[in-house]
Amino acid sequence: MAYKINDDLIEKIHESSDLVDIVSRYVQLKKSSNNYVGLCPFHNEKTPSFTVSESKQLFHCFGCGEGGDLITFIMKIENLSFVEAVKFLADLIGISIEEGSNEFDNKIKNEKEKIYKINKEAARFFYYNLRNTSAALKYLKDRNIEKKVINKFGLGYALDGWDSIYNYLREKGYSEEDIEKSGLIGKRKNNTGYYDKFRNRIMYPIIDIKDRVIGFGGRVLDNKTPKYLNSKDTLVFSKGNNLYGLNLIKKNSNREKIILVEGYMDVISLFNYGINYAVASLGTAFTQNQAKLLKRYAKQVYICFDSDNAGINATNKAFNILRKEGIKPKAIILPKNYDPDDFIKKNGLDEFKKLEDYALNYVDYRIYINKQKYELTNYEDKIKFTKEVAKTLRELKSPIEKDVYIDKVSMDTGISKEAIRREVLDKDSKSVTTIYKDKYINGKNRYNKNDIMPITTVLESAHLTAEKTLIKLMIENRDHYNIIKKDVKEDDFLNHENNILARIIYNEYDNNPCFMKLELKNIRNRLKNENNIDMKYIYEIINMDTKFLSEDKNKLIMDLINTIKYSKLKVKRKEIIRKIQEIEAKKDRDEGDVNEFKILCLKLTELDKELKSRI
Ligand code: UTP
Ligand code: MN
Repeated sequence: MAYKINDDLIEKIHESSDLVDIVSRYVQLKKSSNNYVGLCPFHNEKTPSFTVSESKQLFHCFGCGEGGDLITFIMKIENLSFVEAVKFLADLIGISIEEGSNEFDNKIKNEKEKIYKINKEAARFFYYNLRNTSAALKYLKDRNIEKKVINKFGLGYALDGWDSIYNYLREKGYSEEDIEKSGLIGKRKNNTGYYDKFRNRIMYPIIDIKDRVIGFGGRVLDNKTPKYLNSKDTLVFSKGNNLYGLNLIKKNSNREKIILVEGYMDVISLFNYGINYAVASLGTAFTQNQAKLLKRYAKQVYICFDSDNAGINATNKAFNILRKEGIKPKAIILPKNYDPDDFIKKNGLDEFKKLEDYALNYVDYRIYINKQKYELTNYEDKIKFTKEVAKTLRELKSPIEKDVYIDKVSMDTGISKEAIRREVLDKDSKSVTTIYKDKYINGKNRYNKNDIMPITTVLESAHLTAEKTLIKLMIENRDHYNIIKKDVKEDDFLNHENNILARIIYNEYDNNPCFMKLELKNIRNRLKNENNIDMKYIYEIINMDTKFLSEDKNKLIMDLINTIKYSKLKVKRKEIIRKIQEIEAKKDRDEGDVNEFKILCLKLTELDKELKSRI
């Protein structure tokens, strides 16, 4: 009996299938007490936190929080809508679904069937023509395409006449209207009949994942234009929703990886040389729906577009589209003026595989492209390059990833990590550091390890950078120290490491009037007595490159001091607000509270005035 998609069908699906069985098709499950566990297919993990309950027929991942029942699982893993997932499961379990219960649906279904049949007949005819047309065979031979690849892709040839496919299909009994609906023929302008759309072209049937011919691409044998002609969109063919070659991927691949290329010929040529996991978008720009398809069939997606400007733009777009689907694609970089077909034909499979191994992730690709664009030996370009890359780094969510790339860009450009970090972080976020609350609030030095209460607060990255830069400038030159110490006391350095360095620096200069600058080894020696410090951070400061700082050091120092003062006022303001809120939240307020409240409010007004005057 056939079912409609309704509650009965859903119940039937649940009754006749077992979640553990279905999940086991995708995930290796192990029994563990009452449940089954395995590595979660929805996020990357090394220890299994993905759990399937056989009794409840539910799954849950303690790592990423994904969870649900059988249908949710299929929707998620196959990237399907609810209805599609139900159909998918029904198909898997062997329950037939009653499709098209009304007349209209039936009509559409019949029309679609007819187009599939017409396309299949046409593909046979084109294939037959190819075997009998030496010029077409020669064309493919010249492009190194082997016979078995021709067969695999069902390549063909459209004869050089105005009515050959028309006559062939008419003889097979199809009506003109139906053939026209398939897109193989078009109406003549003055309504005097029909003409073949594809003439004197190599024909590439486009086959969907259910092995139906849904449309065609046709290429000229010479340099005429348009080089490629594609079937118009029909009831069964929509360019943005299909990918050329996906039918073969489904058969050959272990769903590990797919290479997205630009052209039909790239897919075929890669296959010819042993890469059976490439697909191409179909005469349109790559679409979001095509990204969804890729997600269903591959864990790793590679983009391998032509190395010209159009290819680079298309790669950038594809990265964005794929990233929106939660895919982390990589780009395979081809030498200048190559497409995948040219490359593999010239260099062979092994060399192509090497390129695959060196494929670049999103950030590395952006860095690579910008390096091509800018001349890093020239200052102006170097700045442009860094700003451009900083934009990309700003998009990264993980601070660790950001940090790694900041290091890398710093090495590439010789620009200090600090400056790059500032460029990346200033615009979007603040960095967290530890300051000493007690010390700060009392405003005097109570540096005693036992009575200090570190609190983690958010210091703006501009503030942190200012502190660090001042420290570096002081180490480098006693004159800087003399200017800075007038305005900034050791204790004004709020970051723990900066604070320790400041104390050491102030102490060294004060005790050694002859020192015009400080030796790093002295500082290092004195740091040995300190516990609880992040040496990596200290070295970052010590190794900071000041070449790129402004020439006018006095002005720079004043700017940095102002940044610190401004930021400190803001920290102070936060603290006052916190105290005000504390009093407001009290149930029983005494006179002392009321007085304090008034004082705090006054302070707040003063502070706000000062802050405003500094903007
Ligand atoms: P390319 O011009 O890069 O084609 O177009 P190609 O694959 O390298 O072609 P060969 O090697 O000369 O045979 C890439 C894709 O853009 C679409 C086609 O899908 C083609 O495969 N295209 C290109 C068209 O739809 N029409 C055109 O006129 C050209
Ligand atoms: Mn090509």
